[in-house]
Amino acid sequence: MTATTGTFSLGDKSVEMPVKTGTIGPSVVDIGKLYGQTGMFTYDPGFTSTASCESQITYIDGDEGILLYRGYPIEQIAEKGDFLETCYLLLYGELPTRVQKSDFDYRITRHTMVHEQMARFFGGLRRDSHPMAVLCASVGALSAFYHDSTDITDPSQRMVASLRLIAKMPTLAAMAYKYSIGQPFMYPKNDLDYCSNFLRMCFAVPCEDYKINPILTRALDRIFILHADHEQNASTSTVRLAGSSGANPFACIAAGVACLWGPAHGGANEAALKMLLDIGTVENIPKYIARAKDKNDPFRLMGFGHRVYKNYDPRAKIMQRTCHEVLNELGLKDDPLLSVAIELERIALSDEYFIEKKLYPNIDFYSGITLKAMGFPLSMFTVLFAVARTSGWIAQWKEMIEDPGQKIGRPRQLYTGAARRDYRAIAER
Ligand code: CMC
Repeated sequence: MTATTGTFSLGDKSVEMPVKTGTIGPSVVDIGKLYGQTGMFTYDPGFTSTASCESQITYIDGDEGILLYRGYPIEQIAEKGDFLETCYLLLYGELPTRVQKSDFDYRITRHTMVHEQMARFFGGLRRDSHPMAVLCASVGALSAFYHDSTDITDPSQRMVASLRLIAKMPTLAAMAYKYSIGQPFMYPKNDLDYCSNFLRMCFAVPCEDYKINPILTRALDRIFILHADHEQNASTSTVRLAGSSGANPFACIAAGVACLWGPAHGGANEAALKMLLDIGTVENIPKYIARAKDKNDPFRLMGFGHRVYKNYDPRAKIMQRTCHEVLNELGLKDDPLLSVAIELERIALSDEYFIEKKLYPNIDFYSGITLKAMGFPLSMFTVLFAVARTSGWIAQWKEMIEDPGQKIGRPRQLYTGAARRDYRAIAER
């Protein structure tokens, strides 16, 4: 990082502020001393012009449609790497050697089981709970079961908590699913890779053998890679903010899961598929396009648009290919939903409204169709996103805790409420 200074005029005041430049991407004005010098705060609700931290993990160029994990393009990682290698890269900063990779895989695999009492914890929740509600609760509960990795000042406990979270999320996610359909929980199986194991925990039953389909395993692995990290998005910022107070990592990841649940963030894949099901046939598309463009209609094309990407989301391209591979493998290439999606994408990409506002398909546009074809119900889509994003959340949390300059995140506000006034007794109101 390099730093220079910039001079800004605010009314009749001239203020000098450090300007910091990273490796790539926009420079930032360090406004840390602005209040002290001018008595003013900056105002940026939605953080559209605010860098909330310094990070070395993920880089996005939204105008060019570029996504890098630790400098490596997402396209190369998705094609040549695997999800656990991606987790290693995000956590440690470098790609693992062969020995490091097999050691990491081994350690993750040995942490996949959850405390047996967790099964009873699930029993306290309603069967018809949304699996995200169950995931929020069960991830938060991990801190009640794994006290020996909640001391955030101990680097080895931080690493154990990180490995536990990456390893146990698929187990909890699969348990949330099994619980919702009333089937017995399936224990993890240590001779399987991460994604085969997860698919088996979701779709196997104890009374039958389960056959691994390598095409589906690879597709899920790629979906996990694509969702692993995405810079300072809402849920990652939530994890960082929760962690900045010194909260334990399990509690911080539970906060991230809660934030991810919203339809403008991780819930969009569920919303995008629901929308495709609502549209139903290609003939109905113009009606929905018209609604999306109507200022008086709150409807939006789900799976379209992104706060940062003002170009085709690079993850969406890979997702589209993966979607075709999965549907081909399952003999579903004539799925009417896919036809609706392809046609909707074609019409939207040639429509003036979408072109002018730079609204392109995002990752969620094709992920829903793919996951549905694999057998996941709608309610599990965001859960799968959470399983993958845990790797990014925990890497970002660790980076923050290990930053010597780290302090509690505490934004200020523009107060527009009542000015000072005197209390009146209830009888006088
Ligand atoms: N359909 C129709 N119009 C849209 C859409 C859409 N999907 N997205 C944005 N617009 C319009 C919006 O009405 C606004 O128009 P105007 O300037 O005339 O008021 C303009 O485009 C800018 O929208 P914005 O809401 O100010 O942009 P934002 O950066 O705050 O929102 C977004 C980004 C992702 C929340 C939004 O595009 C959206 O709601 N998309 C649908 C939901 C979705 O697919 N979310 C998944 C995001 S990717 C997964 C992830 O990373 O979590």
